[in-house]
Amino acid sequence: MATVQQLSTKHILGIKYLTEQDIRLIFETAQSFKEVINRPIKKVPSLRDVTVANLFFENSTRTRISFELAEKRLSADTVNFSASSSSVKKGETLLDTVNNILSMKVDMVVMRHPAPGAHHFLAQHIDANIVNAGDGTHEHPTQALLDAFSMQEQIGDLRGKNICIFGDILHSRVALSNIFCLQKLGARVRVCGPPTLIPKHINSLGVEVSHNVFESLQWCDVANILRIQLERQDIKYFPSLREYSQYFGVNKQLLDQLDKPILIMHPGPINRGVEITSDVADSDHSIILQQVENGVAVRMAVLYLLAAKR
Ligand code: CP
Repeated sequence: MATVQQLSTKHILGIKYLTEQDIRLIFETAQSFKEVINRPIKKVPSLRDVTVANLFFENSTRTRISFELAEKRLSADTVNFSASSSSVKKGETLLDTVNNILSMKVDMVVMRHPAPGAHHFLAQHIDANIVNAGDGTHEHPTQALLDAFSMQEQIGDLRGKNICIFGDILHSRVALSNIFCLQKLGARVRVCGPPTLIPKHINSLGVEVSHNVFESLQWCDVANILRIQLERQDIKYFPSLREYSQYFGVNKQLLDQLDKPILIMHPGPINRGVEITSDVADSDHSIILQQVENGVAVRMAVLYLLAAKR
C-alpha cells in the first residue's frame, strides 16, 4: 500500500465517533488485507516495530483471537493480558494496570472491559492508540465494522437496504454499534424482540421497532440475530428460554414462508436452539463464519490506519 489516507481519529472508541469516510476507508483497506491473508504468505511488515497490548477484562473467543491474528499478520509485537490471571485480582486499578503495561513501551491498546466508557476514561489519561474491543453494554465497534463489511460483500452498497437486528437489544453493545454503522452507510435499521429487551429510548436513534419476528424477517434484506445475554440479565425479562425461542427465535419454518431469501448473520457466540436454530445458523443463507473470517481483515485495517496516525 503506497499512500495512507487518514482516519479522522487516533482511537476507535465507538462507531459514534467515526465518519462515513472513516468507515469506507476501513472497508477499502480491509479489502486489500483480505487479499493478503488469502495468499500463501499471509504476513506484511506494516506494523513492524509497533507493540500492541491486548487487554481482556471480559471473556472472548472471536474478538481476542481475531485481533491477535491481525496483529501477527501485520508483523506487530503483541502482549496478551487476561484480568482473571492478573494483579487486577489483587486490587490494582485500570489506570495503574494500563500505565504499567505502557511503561514497557507499548504503542497501542486493544481492550475489552465490562464498564461502559472505560475506553473514554483511558483515552483521557494515556497517549497510546486505543481500540475498543467491547465496553459493557455500550459499543463493540470492530464487530459492527466487520458485520457491515460482510453485508456489503454479499449484497453491495447498503444505502437503502433494510437491516433488522433481532433479539436482546437492551444488553447488546453489538446492536448499538451496528445501528450507528449501518445508519452512517445509509441503511434503514429496525430492531425486533420482546418489549422487555428493547431499550425505551431506542426510537430517538431513528430506528424502527417491531415485536413481530415474521413480519420483520419479511421486511429485511439482512437479519442480524443477537444472543440472549443471560449473564447480564439480573431480572427475568421473559418467562423461559423455551418461550423465547418459540416467539422470538428464528427457525427454518419461518424462513421457508418468506417470499425472498434473506442473509442470516450472528456475531456469536450462538445459543443454538434459543435465538436461532441450527438449521438456520448452518444454512446456505448464513454468513456467520464469513463474518469471523472478515474480522481479521477488518481489524488489520483498523490497526494499520491507527498506526498511520502515530
Ligand atoms: N462477537 C464477539 O465479540 O465474540 P467474543 O465475545 O467471542 O469475542
